[in-house]
Amino acid sequence: MASATVDLIVTSPPYAVNAIDYMRADKFSLVWLGYNLGQLSETRKQCVGGESVMDFPFEPLPPRTAAIVEAISAADPKRGKALHRYYSEMTRILCEMYRVLKPDRAAVVVVASSEIRRIDTETHRCLAEIGETIGFEVPGVGVRRLDRNRRMMPAGHIVNSDSQIQRRMHEEFVIGFYKPA
Ligand SMILES: C[S@@+](CC[C@H](N)C(=O)[O-])C[C@H]1O[C@@H](n2cnc3c(N)ncnc32)[C@H](O)[C@@H]1O
Repeated sequence: MASATVDLIVTSPPYAVNAIDYMRADKFSLVWLGYNLGQLSETRKQCVGGESVMDFPFEPLPPRTAAIVEAISAADPKRGKALHRYYSEMTRILCEMYRVLKPDRAAVVVVASSEIRRIDTETHRCLAEIGETIGFEVPGVGVRRLDRNRRMMPAGHIVNSDSQIQRRMHEEFVIGFYKPA
């Protein structure tokens, strides 16, 4: 796409480090649509948030994001690297959003956070920090509560507000990125 041509971006990118296995969820529909399993395993490798880091070109990360990647790497080096891959991919995606947006326009990005070895990936805070490093302003990050009864994959009926897993499954974050005029 040509630079400075887009009026608004609204998107929900993949969550960090295979929090949801999209290919597994979509596999049967894709085979029904005519894809073969070989094609799908190639496509899986290109999915944002995958775990393979062989020959992957990592991006440098801003301080807060780098600290989270470091903390997770200390607990689990393999998944720490995969998280670095995810934030590198999202850095390139946010750069591209910045490039194609017209000045004085916004990108709205919906994400949820994940946990790796009980450490929160703080995806919304990290993406906001990465966006600011690129040149976006981040006027706000909203919280969207997810209705327990309207989820595609419903959670249990007993609400346990102390449970990290239940808490994070019931909220998403809506990040507002603004490309200054
Ligand atoms: C959080 S889901 C959002 C899906 C859809 N926008 C929606 O709201 O229902 C993220 C989507 O990004 C797709 N995805 C992952 N890696 C991608 C890539 N490299 N290029 C394009 N889409 C990708 C996943 O398959 C998944 O469908």
